[in-house]
Amino acid sequence: MKIKPIKTIPSAGPDITEAEIKLVNQAIRSGWYERRNLHLDLLTAAIQRHTDKRYCLPTSSGTAAIHLALLGLNIGPGDEVIVPDITWTASAAPIHYVGATPVFCDIDERSWCLSPASFEERITKKTKAVIVVNLYGNMVDIEPIRSIARRRGIAIIEDAAESIGGEYRGRPAGTLGDVGIFSFNATKLVIAGQGGMLVTDNKKVYERAKKLAHHGMRKYTIEATFWSEEIGFNYQWTNLQAALALAQFRRLRELLAKKKRAFGWYRAALEGIPGIQLNDQPRNATNTYWIVSAIIDSAYGWKKEQLMKKFRSCHIDLRPFFYPLSSMPAWKPYVRSKNMRQQNPVAYRISPYGICLPSATGITKAEVDYVCDCLKKTLRVKPTLCPVVKLQMG
Ligand SMILES: Cc1ncc(COP(=O)(O)O)c(C=O)c1O
Repeated sequence: MKIKPIKTIPSAGPDITEAEIKLVNQAIRSGWYERRNLHLDLLTAAIQRHTDKRYCLPTSSGTAAIHLALLGLNIGPGDEVIVPDITWTASAAPIHYVGATPVFCDIDERSWCLSPASFEERITKKTKAVIVVNLYGNMVDIEPIRSIARRRGIAIIEDAAESIGGEYRGRPAGTLGDVGIFSFNATKLVIAGQGGMLVTDNKKVYERAKKLAHHGMRKYTIEATFWSEEIGFNYQWTNLQAALALAQFRRLRELLAKKKRAFGWYRAALEGIPGIQLNDQPRNATNTYWIVSAIIDSAYGWKKEQLMKKFRSCHIDLRPFFYPLSSMPAWKPYVRSKNMRQQNPVAYRISPYGICLPSATGITKAEVDYVCDCLKKTLRVKPTLCPVVKLQMG
């Protein structure tokens, strides 16, 4: 079979070396029967060491891990879960799966992650959990959120799907809440095609999540084989995919360095252009720059969809900054306020003008320069610029 060459600069994508090919080869040749969990166990142990968490549960996706985290925390009908209005829909979908109510909260202007002040405003007697999201590799400012959550008895789920390898005050992403989750889908920093991981120190959460991840079976014993204690899910992951993720995870530092390098190229190429805000790098956190994103000042007059169309003709795959969840038809049943724009002003102001720049791990400097040249040329089309946002320097 002839494989067509890729003509477009991709939005995201993996960096595959012989190490990945070797391990997947090993898994396909020998990761069966008694060795069916060989690479899964090795990856689980590696993530356990990395996060220093007592329990790690591999799952078929990051979405499944969030679902299991909510179930493990006994969240269900009548409960409210606060979630940032700007995130991928998968952060919130499991709230619906368990029959709880998502409550959409504003984001911080610089980090684009959950705003502590908005979080506090949305708390009611029914609030049982908050899902914080490290958006595009930016780290959430967890300290103020944690102190509010502790005071009000609210559990924290950290959606670290986009931030594996990031740090907050020296603590790894995924370990900042009561339960953390990672994703290994094909666009992430550490990829497996699909896959996820739940991490926690809470034995009860882990045991319940583990049981529900495999059709409600407690464990394989002679007495309990195929014995379901309750109705669960098939959220198990494959050893084959775990082998790919393991090889990638062993290269975590190298992959992080590549993301940082690409961000540096973008920053240098866009430096001095007013009104472009790139990913934040606060003093107390390490950004992974999983996706380099840019908020283009509205004064330029270019909305994200217009830029995407324009860039498509240049063979560049731009992606839109996430839409506010509360603005999409899927989430309408949960929108309480008639004026979400007023309730979550930052989310609604930033989203129309946010773009995700091509950030595949293997992107070259020439490609970054080409993307930035296209952006500069495009923005010059409308010269009446009134800059309000300064370029963020990491
Ligand atoms: C912020 C966020 N949360 C959750 C998920 C869900 O992960 P997965 O695609 O592995 O289900 C993703 C990945 O797409 C994500 O980006």
